[in-house]
Amino acid sequence: MEKIDLLYEGKGKKLYSTKDKNLVIAEFKDSLTAFNGQKKGNEEGKGSLNCEISSLLFELLKENGIESHFIKKLDSKNMLCKKVKIIPLEVVVRNIATGSLSKRLGIDDGLKLPFALVEFYYKNDALNDPMINDEHCKIMNILNDDKEIALLKETARKINEILLKFFDDINIKLVDFKIEFGVDENGKIILADEISPDSCRFWDKQSNKKMDKDVFRENLGNVVDVYKEILLRATKKVD
Ligand code: TMP
Repeated sequence: MEKIDLLYEGKGKKLYSTKDKNLVIAEFKDSLTAFNGQKKGNEEGKGSLNCEISSLLFELLKENGIESHFIKKLDSKNMLCKKVKIIPLEVVVRNIATGSLSKRLGIDDGLKLPFALVEFYYKNDALNDPMINDEHCKIMNILNDDKEIALLKETARKINEILLKFFDDINIKLVDFKIEFGVDENGKIILADEISPDSCRFWDKQSNKKMDKDVFRENLGNVVDVYKEILLRATKKVD
């Protein structure tokens, strides 16, 4: 499948049309940003690592009954996907308090939460992606009804269960992650975007070493090295 036109360029990926109107190619970029684009960087190899990791996780989720836009990995940094209309929500699932949750509410960093917390953030750079609730989603027509809200939350929790187990087996704590959903050509809501160390927090089970984009956000070292370690553990199932 060949790329035709550039449809959209985001912070982490470019989306291209193909000759099939229902399929797009997602190209993972080496650039990375944080704090709503205020911090910028570029790390050669980061894009292909995220493409590999995302592909592997979408496959894992598929085997466990979670439908997504992912069709197949085309090469090191390109993925063939179903074309979807992205729902402008960042759905965040948290198992351990850290990041904006600890900052905003003063919950101790590293505290294990009594249950997985699901939050919605409205994807809007100009507004700095504010957190919103179910009612905002309905008032703003981001989601149509309670059924769709429940579907997103239930799917996010199922994904969390699958990923928690997978990462626990390779000695990684899945601290939190962000996912996005889209609507396919049949009007069905499916998982979309990516699941990678850019969009998740991973801590080593023994040392709590950060193995995700916080390494870039907090200048803790080289992201490519830690993303490689995630891929290595995920593929060899060793620590
Ligand atoms: P937060 O603690 O900064 O709100 O982040 C929660 C999770 O969401 C964390 O795994 C990082 C991820 N995330 C994104 O993927 N994109 C974003 O723009 C932000 C703010 C967080």
